[in-house]
Amino acid sequence: MLALSGITVRFGDRQVLSGVDVTVAEGELLAVLGANGSGKSTLLRAAAGLVQVHGGGVTVDGRPRGPLDVALVFQQIHLVRRRSVLDNVCSGALGRLPLRSSLVPALFPRVVREEAMACLDRVGLADRAHDRAGSLSGGQQQRVAVARALCQRSRIVLADEPVSALDPSAAEQVLALLAELAHDERLAVLAVLHQPDLARRHADRIVGLADGRVVLDGAPATLGTGAVDALYPASSVPELEAVS
Ligand SMILES: Nc1ncnc2c1ncn2[C@@H]1O[C@H](COP(=O)(O)OP(=O)(O)O)[C@@H](O)[C@H]1O
Ligand SMILES: [Mg+2]
Repeated sequence: MLALSGITVRFGDRQVLSGVDVTVAEGELLAVLGANGSGKSTLLRAAAGLVQVHGGGVTVDGRPRGPLDVALVFQQIHLVRRRSVLDNVCSGALGRLPLRSSLVPALFPRVVREEAMACLDRVGLADRAHDRAGSLSGGQQQRVAVARALCQRSRIVLADEPVSALDPSAAEQVLALLAELAHDERLAVLAVLHQPDLARRHADRIVGLADGRVVLDGAPATLGTGAVDALYPASSVPELEAVS
């Protein structure tokens, strides 16, 4: 569904991505792994149209990507903390609402509020709809951000280290949710992950980036741990740190 073809990005005279080809199919959770600075976030931002590409292109079902095709979930959870959980989810619909609703969020039409409620139910938080977003735990807030992405009705979800700020059990839950949504709602989900073990457990496919190039692409079962560990400088492999 999502195809990144030959993506090349330069910042000044530094080439950060060099002809990267990545596809994400409908119903698939794709994890992107790689050391710090390998170009993961830049790739995701290129997929979202947030950075200028100097070569290659992004298509959705074979057509140039449109502004509403993708929804974003970030490591830093972007919710309006003092507003209700439900209002935050409703704001996912802003792209398709008349301007008046976006200026006065109390005016979210009933149909949007109902849809947002269904999205909240999908992430298991319907009972928290009327609480202030800031009163939820980090993991719950990230699930609200996922519900907001659903309410945007994009068929593609791009997530940059969505669980890096969460404790292990919340991280596990949010990734399981993303995988389930990919499979059940037939979304294409591309998630940059920091922890290879989470990618192995939840992703349908893993792409490894090194120095702006794809060096690994396959189902977790087909990738040896050696191949994945080779993405990281020895000093940053988590298991080694734990030993020392
Ligand atoms: N807006 C920018 N301007 C200049 N350099 C950038 C910019 N964004 C990223 N870079 C550089 O590009 C490289 C890849 O960054 P990034 O995609 O964020 O890596 P990752 O997410 O894999 O850690 C890094 O060296 C980073 O410093
Ligand atoms: Mg990054």
